[in-house]
Amino acid sequence: MKTRILGNGLNVSALGLGCMGMSAAYGPAADKAEMIAMMRNARDQGVTFFDTAEAYGPFVNEDLVGEALQPIRDEVLIATKFGFDIDLETGERRGGTNSRPEHVKAVADAALKRLRTDRIDLFYQHRVDPNVPIEDVAGAVKDLIAQGKVKHFGLSEAGVNTIRRAHAVQPVTAVQSEYSLFWRGPETELLDVLEELGIGFVPFSPLGAGFLTGRIDETTTFDASDFRNAVPRFSPQARKANMALVDVIRTVAERKHATPAQVALAWLLAQRPWIVPIPGTTKPHRLQENLGAIDLDLTAVDLAEIDAGLANVTVEGARLPEAVLKMTGL
Ligand SMILES: NC(=O)c1ccc[n+]([C@@H]2O[C@H](COP(=O)([O-])OP(=O)(O)OC[C@H]3O[C@@H](n4cnc5c(N)ncnc54)[C@H](OP(=O)(O)O)[C@@H]3O)[C@@H](O)[C@H]2O)c1
Repeated sequence: MKTRILGNGLNVSALGLGCMGMSAAYGPAADKAEMIAMMRNARDQGVTFFDTAEAYGPFVNEDLVGEALQPIRDEVLIATKFGFDIDLETGERRGGTNSRPEHVKAVADAALKRLRTDRIDLFYQHRVDPNVPIEDVAGAVKDLIAQGKVKHFGLSEAGVNTIRRAHAVQPVTAVQSEYSLFWRGPETELLDVLEELGIGFVPFSPLGAGFLTGRIDETTTFDASDFRNAVPRFSPQARKANMALVDVIRTVAERKHATPAQVALAWLLAQRPWIVPIPGTTKPHRLQENLGAIDLDLTAVDLAEIDAGLANVTVEGARLPEAVLKMTGL
């Protein structure tokens, strides 16, 4: 398995495994025993970087990841996230964010229990809290690092000024934000700032929440609890228009004897050597397919073909519902 280095020395497999969809966001939770087996199998295939969050469930995804990885804890790295206003006892979502330092520290202790571990390898703020200066958040994580409970600090969907301010208090190892051929917002300024500061980048939804795999079209129906029902770019009309994007990827994939999912992931890996996508799946055969992207080298000609193809495609529909977009710094 090829590895990559995030920020100030977090050495991870070139692709991580996004675990959210095993418990939340994409319909009913998947079978627990199967997910535990799949995570352990992912490690057998060389994956060392697992992504979860307090908010996935809430709590149940951290519980699941903790149970799965406990026997192989020293062979893997666990990233989790704090920052939504969730009651630590009941799991009730109060709405909005909460990165007050005392809450961040309590969330860390609760996550350590659920993850069945004594350290969180990478602790991201899930969304920037408009009510708490980022310096205070970075200071709270700095304290957790000093105590050994957390190893590295991360931010998710933060704007570049927030990243700079946080990094001045506690070096940021990785920023996790959406990035894929479906959403190229980070190319405007984020990637340059991360390069300048030496911070790694972890693209979430690297498969465009499944769309870039070519296995979704305008006739696909999602479970009622699937978040894509509320996402503008997943409306049937938008999906129909956005198939032009998938066609570009499919053409390159056919020529390379690869799948569209592999091209979508290889494209991300080709953008910078410090990018580590975390595709999510609940299916072992798709995990294997996705990992195949690591050995798919896209040449300058392939990348130029993708760029040229995309120049004629305008992605229709916002990437997230309006209320959720407001919480992002991009
Ligand atoms: N920081 C944040 O705010 C944030 C937000 C969203 C996600 N995340 C993290 O990022 C991870 C990945 O993002 P994501 O899960 O939203 O999106 P994604 O990885 O782009 O796509 C996941 C979807 O694609 C499907 N899929 C995966 N591989 C496939 C393949 N080879 N062929 C066809 N379909 C495939 C999965 O379905 P099956 O399960 O059926 O394969 C699932 O529906 C999450 O698990 C989570 O850890 C973070």
